Amino acid sequence: MWVPAGVNIANRSMFATELKGDAVTEHIMTDQATPPRASFRSFQESTQDDWMLIMKQRGELEASLASRILEQFEHLRDDYGGFPVDRLEHSLQTATRAERDGRNDEYVLCALLHDLGDPLTPYNHPDVGAAILKPFVSEANHWMVEHHGIFQGYYFWHHLGMDRNTRDRYADSPHYALTEEFCSEYDSPAFDPGYDSNPLGHYEALIRQFFGTNPWTGRTVDNSDA
Ligand SMILES: [Fe+2]
Ligand SMILES: [Fe+2]
Repeated sequence: MWVPAGVNIANRSMFATELKGDAVTEHIMTDQATPPRASFRSFQESTQDDWMLIMKQRGELEASLASRILEQFEHLRDDYGGFPVDRLEHSLQTATRAERDGRNDEYVLCALLHDLGDPLTPYNHPDVGAAILKPFVSEANHWMVEHHGIFQGYYFWHHLGMDRNTRDRYADSPHYALTEEFCSEYDSPAFDPGYDSNPLGHYEALIRQFFGTNPWTGRTVDNSDA
């Protein structure tokens, strides 16, 4: 591949490949197609102008958050891991059971995202969903998602030679009952292949609503078509 002097070959997205007969032509895309970048080599060198440039593009990251969360659910589809339903169906079934039981939107969102980290974090999966939700939900609901794995253990850890009562270490927590209830009522029963769960599309508006506000500034983030 021909690369002009001074162009970082790692930035392959800057190049377009054109095929004409047997000839292959690579050329640089227009500057308009490549968002501007800061030029510092270390944070120590960075300037206020650099950070203004970066923060301008951060808005696009915030606007696409809801879409990227929706995409992440696709990693749960067809991922069974030996369970009777795939991880997407388990997530949808947990949320649907909570919704049909009259839980509020924030609770349903937590139910939906509680296992989103499964494919990336087999050793500490509750931490991922909890971390994503933390700026957007109450301390109680965050604690519930963060600790649901240990509370779920009550229903099966004894089959694996582990202490099913490990949750007892949190007996003094003000969120113990909330988390115990989440697991007994919604999470642990959500493996029924015959249950009529809502599809992921049913929850798209909920996801866009909750992740459509910058939690630090309170500003609305337009994520409608991101
Ligand atoms: Fe889980
Ligand atoms: Fe779960």
